[in-house]
Amino acid sequence: MTERTLSIIKPDATRRNICGKIISMLEDAGLRVIAQKRIHLTENQAKNFYSVHSESPFYQELCEFMISGPVVVQVLEGENAINRNRDVMGATNPEQAAPGTIRKELAVSLTENSVHGSDSPENAAVEIAFFFSDTDIVG
Ligand code: CMP
Repeated sequence: MTERTLSIIKPDATRRNICGKIISMLEDAGLRVIAQKRIHLTENQAKNFYSVHSESPFYQELCEFMISGPVVVQVLEGENAINRNRDVMGATNPEQAAPGTIRKELAVSLTENSVHGSDSPENAAVEIAFFFSDTDIVG
């Protein structure tokens, strides 16, 4: 089934100028970038986007990191795009990620883990709408 998912290339990756490398890995995994923009999140945007983690001990550090530099937000499309993207991203903690995944090959740490991807169809719809309107998504 063709799906869409929300991807974020995080500040550790924009800082190191490795967005192209990450996009290549996404494309090689069968995903297509159908919308994309480079933005600097506000504190409010970061807090709202990650509000599901607001009770977690890492929430503050996560939000501070996400506003520490620009991010690239993307809509990815493909067969089973949500799981396909999670597979190519690898485990949240780069130390536990499989070889060949984005986080294993490129991430710095659990917080500075280079990429975010939606974890369910419901969250993908909410997260895509957080950053993009229908007219931004050109297919
Ligand atoms: P992400 O997939 O963007 O979703 C939440 C983020 O919180 C996660 O990636 C990590 O970068 C960050 N994070 C920091 N500490 C933890 C933790 N202990 N468990 C899960 N996520 C964490």
